[in-house]
Amino acid sequence: MNENFKLYSQYYDLLYQDKNYVQETNYVSRLIEIYRPKSKTILELGAGTGKHAFLLADKGYTILGIERSKEMVAIANQQKNENVSFEVADITEFNLKQTFDVATSLFHVISYLTDNESLIQTFKNVHQHLNEDGIFIFDVWHSSAVYHQIPEKRTKILQSNTIEVIRKANPVIYSEKNIVEVNYEIAITNLSDKSTNTIAEKHPMRHFSRPEIELLAYGTGFKLLSTEEFLTGSVPSTNTWGVCYILKKI
Ligand SMILES: C[S@@+](CC[C@H](N)C(=O)[O-])C[C@H]1O[C@@H](n2cnc3c(N)ncnc32)[C@H](O)[C@@H]1O
Repeated sequence: MNENFKLYSQYYDLLYQDKNYVQETNYVSRLIEIYRPKSKTILELGAGTGKHAFLLADKGYTILGIERSKEMVAIANQQKNENVSFEVADITEFNLKQTFDVATSLFHVISYLTDNESLIQTFKNVHQHLNEDGIFIFDVWHSSAVYHQIPEKRTKILQSNTIEVIRKANPVIYSEKNIVEVNYEIAITNLSDKSTNTIAEKHPMRHFSRPEIELLAYGTGFKLLSTEEFLTGSVPSTNTWGVCYILKKI
């Protein structure tokens, strides 16, 4: 069992406190309005700490989020909304015995699926859980941007009232597999007694080209409705790290 996000989960919301979930949710709900108006139910794959799910529920949707990390689900469950629920499940193998109008998978969750078998299985699962004409919206790392920009070592420093978190990301590139293994080292310092604890996690990420996703979609019962830069809607370029795909069940 892959254990990434087990330790990372405790610092996840702090590390991504600058991420604009409201803007992202508005963007996704606009896509739903355009590509499958009148949708009411959403299945969210890799729901994390539930940020998008609660905001989508505020817009009137009923959402079930599935997520592999029980630690992330425990954080999500601290908030309550009768139209939102979470289950600990792996997106490569789940059977919920219900169907949805829309499936979403946001913030590069699909890039965590690094082998073809997991991708095909996940897309087939999504297909099986969608209603007629249901759509699947997800964002992934974009191969041309990865080749153009080449991921480098990066450091992010964040502080809450009680702790300081320093996250170092050290990427290892496996170009023949379209995978970048991001090695995180996270140092957490308690601000009152200055004690420091360090944790490490590996996050292997796969990047994709449009023809690769089209082929995957075609082979699993979907057609590609549209693809664009996540959030801006621009045509993806070599500077576009995150590309959004909108597939329709056929
Ligand atoms: C970068 S986080 C994104 C979380 C959330 N969607 C957000 O936008 O904050 C990636 C999430 O995908 C989950 N994940 C990765 N692979 C998964 C799998 N096979 N099944 C279920 N969840 C998975 C991780 O546990 C993690 O919570």
